[in-house]
Amino acid sequence: MALKSMKVSNNAAAVVTGAGSGIGKSFAYEIARRGGAVICADIRQDRAEAVADYLSALGTHAVPYACDVGKSEQMEELARKAPELLKRPVTLVVNNAGVGLGGAIGEVTLADWHWCMNVNLWGVIHGCHFFAPQLRSVGYGGIINVASAAGFAAAPEMSTYNVTKAGVMSLSETLHAELTGTGVNVTVLCPTVVPTNIANDGRLPERRSDFAKEAMTRFALMDSDTVARKTLDAMDRNQLYILPQVDGRIAWYIKRLAPRLYAKGLGEAYRLIAD
Ligand SMILES: NC(=O)c1ccc[n+]([C@@H]2O[C@H](COP(=O)([O-])OP(=O)(O)OC[C@H]3O[C@@H](n4cnc5c(N)ncnc54)[C@H](O)[C@@H]3O)[C@@H](O)[C@H]2O)c1
Repeated sequence: MALKSMKVSNNAAAVVTGAGSGIGKSFAYEIARRGGAVICADIRQDRAEAVADYLSALGTHAVPYACDVGKSEQMEELARKAPELLKRPVTLVVNNAGVGLGGAIGEVTLADWHWCMNVNLWGVIHGCHFFAPQLRSVGYGGIINVASAAGFAAAPEMSTYNVTKAGVMSLSETLHAELTGTGVNVTVLCPTVVPTNIANDGRLPERRSDFAKEAMTRFALMDSDTVARKTLDAMDRNQLYILPQVDGRIAWYIKRLAPRLYAKGLGEAYRLIAD
């Protein structure tokens, strides 16, 4: 079959970061369901192993891999070893690993700023930097970067997280342009709330912690499996943005069509709940 008519997400040789939980785990499962082989990379070895063991038991070639996406030397090593671990060239990279951080500007410590920027933004930069040339030289494949609706919605008390996700969106837009016509698709995922471990594992101010954890189930319009499925389908179409939930699409269009109204509404809504 000609490469052009093949779907990248079918029979992929994939690397998924943050594959040990939530959206990353769903990506690993769905890639396996579509016949692919997967490196399940996660900073938590136990989580990476649990997911890879589960998939291996189902007959998938799944490899657990402990690695911190924020450390360039570890990501470089992952990129170097991946073709051998997968037994063929990498065709799909999902830069998914991320952490949650909340708090007002001036309240969030600079140490926490660096921690979150390092995982959420540098992790994706490392993934693109080390894997994009590999895929480009193969002339076939896909890169999915996981941003968030936070990348454009600018929700108060989420400044660091918002900045990292805006950066991931910009990086993905640039990469999409640079890889146009090379056979490598680029997609950036911008979900709103998806029930995962992010609020439990993240760093949130005490006064917002319960609300954030409750929001993960109360305001979630879609589960992580559906998000992963829709995103892989979007990547197969070489669709740059995927906003899987309707609440994210509403915010996206209001901000673009009525930016002043959006900014005013956001500030006034925040005044109602700010301490
Ligand atoms: N859950 C949501 O509501 C939501 C919404 C928008 C975007 N996202 C994004 O989705 C992605 C996945 O998050 P999730 O919600 O599934 O969270 P999660 O906490 O369930 O999973 C994240 C995984 O990443 C791993 N991880 C954390 N730091 C890492 C590092 N430095 N190196 C490698 N792995 C690391 C964790 O161990 C964990 O297994 C993140 O980028 C997140 O920002 C989540």
